[in-house]
Amino acid sequence: MNERSCLSIILAAGEGTRMKSATPKVLHRIAGLPMVAHVTRAAAAAGAGDLALVVGRGGETVAAAVKTFAPAETFVQAERLGTAHAVLAARDAIERGYDDLLVLFGDTPLIEADTLIQARRKLAEGAAVAVIGFHTDQPTGYGRLIEKNGELTAIREEKDCTPDMKAITFCNAGLMAISGHHALALLGKVGNANANGEYYLTDIVAIARSEGLSVVAIEAPFDSVLGINNRAELAAGEAIWQRRTRRRMMLDGVTLVSPDTVHFCHDTEIGADTIVEPNVVFGPGVKIAGNATIRAFSHIEGATVAASAEVGPFARLRPGADLREKAKVGNFCEVKKAVIDTGAKVNHLTYIGDAVIGAKANIGAGTITCNYDGYNKFLTEIGAGAFIGSNSALVAPVKIGQGAYVASGSVITEEVPDDALAFGRARQKTLPGRGRQLRERQASAAAAAGKSSHSE
Ligand code: UD1
Ligand code: MG
Repeated sequence: MNERSCLSIILAAGEGTRMKSATPKVLHRIAGLPMVAHVTRAAAAAGAGDLALVVGRGGETVAAAVKTFAPAETFVQAERLGTAHAVLAARDAIERGYDDLLVLFGDTPLIEADTLIQARRKLAEGAAVAVIGFHTDQPTGYGRLIEKNGELTAIREEKDCTPDMKAITFCNAGLMAISGHHALALLGKVGNANANGEYYLTDIVAIARSEGLSVVAIEAPFDSVLGINNRAELAAGEAIWQRRTRRRMMLDGVTLVSPDTVHFCHDTEIGADTIVEPNVVFGPGVKIAGNATIRAFSHIEGATVAASAEVGPFARLRPGADLREKAKVGNFCEVKKAVIDTGAKVNHLTYIGDAVIGAKANIGAGTITCNYDGYNKFLTEIGAGAFIGSNSALVAPVKIGQGAYVASGSVITEEVPDDALAFGRARQKTLPGRGRQLRERQASAAAAAGKSSHSE
């Protein structure tokens, strides 16, 4: 089938207002990726080499956004006269002559490449049209697939259905594969004599049949053809995507202790034998190798985590966090744009930003890299095997050498050479007996004023 050329036509002209949003519907995101990008991905995975995007008036935002993730040719359907009319907006592309056309909807993002491949296969076997249908016990609102003797003869929109037809539960998902050789002739014969006065794409089924062409319906899971029109459906779509991805991750060898509580992004990569504990959120751009452990309640985005590294519980890895093998970032730590080299430990209550932490260095609890002066960011470099005492502030730009020690509570503003010990704090002064004296003086002052002591 690879040798058959294929154009995917993505309809995104129908705006609707039910999202109640300044953002066009198809740019709302599922797993961090605009809905329409999920559709272009599925089309590309099904072998569609070219992409025609049909937008309505004012669709420039959608067109510009789509161009950032897929090379698409944009067509404008100036008037919304129906799905067949929308497909014909891409006439110039269709006329270039493709073997297969895939008509997809920008607001139906969960469609899987497998279903599209199956539809294209039907075209390769000689069908002029392969319609994607689904079964539901709540068919209201959908076009019904009308079959006679097991063959698809027509699609009838709900409004045009007889009561008998309304009882049919095999419905039209709206998406279809059309033979590129027959498409323009079929579409040209579609009229608008129906309850909505629209040019229905679905009419090409009956037209093709009347010309003796072969038409088939294939069945897709209901979950994969959900159309999204409001934020509740957007959340339902997100849930379906997450469920699918969790399952794929687990089948690929990732342990999810409590799958329903882990949230992935469209591009999350995790290697086999990594364990992800409950309540972990992955933002965009995360790559985690095998054998790592991501403990509960961690939030990770734009980060790379190597094999056998440990993250969390309650860790935040921000963009540019780069944990090498066996590195550890523990509870209530935040790491941004920093290498934590092999075996280094950042275990408690720490902020590491714009830094390079050498192999096996140990960063004590409460250490902060002071990387920002309100205008610029500066680098903190810590050598291999260095030991940073708890509650230290490292004022960047600053370098701490290999094997160096920084005393607890230090404010380090100057370079610490290899193997040096740096105290960046006032020395402790202890005055014997002065604590008692202080207490007695305060007690007698309080008695004179008629107050009781703080310990009562
Ligand atoms: C369509 C199908 C129906 C199917 C249902 C599944 C047709 C005639 N009907 O109905 O059989 O059960 O989807 O959800 O195809 N669009 C344009 N320009 C237009 C009209 C529509 O670009 O002039 C786009 C919309 O943006 C949308 C898609 O086509 O992405 C479907 O249009 P919509 O109005 O949602 O059709 P339905 O009535 O849902
Ligand atoms: Mg619809």
